[in-house]
Amino acid sequence: MATRHLLVTGGAGFIGSTLVRQVLAQEPSIRITVLDKLTYAGNRANLDAVTSVPGNNRRLTLVVGDVADAGVVSALVTDCDGVINFAAETHVDRSILGSDDLLRTNVNGVQVLIEACRRELERYRAGERATAPRFLQVSTDEVYGPIELGSSDENDPLAPRSPYAATKAAAELLVRSYFVSFDLDVVITRGANTYGPTQHPEKLIPLFVTNAIDGLPLPLYGDGLQRRDWLHVNDHATAIWQVFVHGRRGEVYNVPGDHEMTNRELTSRLLERLGRPWSLVRSVADRPGHDRRYAMDGSKLAALGWRQRMSFEEGLAATIDWYVANESWWRTARSGDWHTYYQRQYGERLLQSTAAE
Ligand code: DAU
Repeated sequence: MATRHLLVTGGAGFIGSTLVRQVLAQEPSIRITVLDKLTYAGNRANLDAVTSVPGNNRRLTLVVGDVADAGVVSALVTDCDGVINFAAETHVDRSILGSDDLLRTNVNGVQVLIEACRRELERYRAGERATAPRFLQVSTDEVYGPIELGSSDENDPLAPRSPYAATKAAAELLVRSYFVSFDLDVVITRGANTYGPTQHPEKLIPLFVTNAIDGLPLPLYGDGLQRRDWLHVNDHATAIWQVFVHGRRGEVYNVPGDHEMTNRELTSRLLERLGRPWSLVRSVADRPGHDRRYAMDGSKLAALGWRQRMSFEEGLAATIDWYVANESWWRTARSGDWHTYYQRQYGERLLQSTAAE
């Protein structure tokens, strides 16, 4: 499949902007349009490194808008031969605080996008355009729900448990229904916990690193023995591109990190790198419905030829160092509405917290 013009929705976000940078650097014949609402989690500056490269201005267009806005989306999809959808509200804790925005972006937005792709498929069949569009939905290991032992493979049932995971599962089912009903060319990736520079400080690693820099408490949920599998953002983006280019239509691909550990262990590694004491860690009330463990089998993606490049030790050290060196970036992310969110999420929890053993 020869993609010449790619639409990347949510392409100013953490993982999306990484893919945009990689593709523009490695695929000289591809142009990209990014559609991004630039909410608190999207950041125009994430694309600055791309636009400052000579020649890239002609290859990258940023459209500020909403994936759930059919008028904006259909004009953009008409002009593209592939769509990669990153646009999503991605934070589990925020999804527990309220799910209105979540449904609009994560479910309605996907419906608008694939419906626009279906119309383009019909135009292709009618000989009105040269290519049939391919649609890639970026999803998550959270759609499986927790797994106590072993690893989830792509045929396992979906059992999401947070509002966030439920919307991602709903989106996947919708995407799959367009493959089954209309033979739309779709692929889905399910990524593990992703980390790296420029991740919003609402997520565990940047939250704990930036709090530790400021000597603030690190709110560890429950017993801290929940397990997550960590994947560097550069590796996550290369995996998505591998699936976009080589994945079989209608198929789902897990993207594991192969670096599974408890939140306690991760916290102690962060503190060690920063030279901060464990006494900063506070044991706080657990996240409701907190999934204990995710783990995925990556053999299907490995068979497509994808390999992870970043070791966890190297990736984590570089990520921590990035936050240390880029204080103004994260102080901006931790301003404005951040304080209201932080107070709602952690205010009472920290008041009731105890020292973590
Ligand atoms: O697994 C993939 C998913 O990873 C993505 O689909 C989500 O978009 C992404 O947000 C992430 O979900 P998690 O809930 O696993 O990520 P988070 O960074 O919020 O939390 C990681 C773990 O750390 C989780 O077990 C909850 C715990 N945690 C998190 C925060 C923010 C704490 O103990 N304290 C905290 O303050």
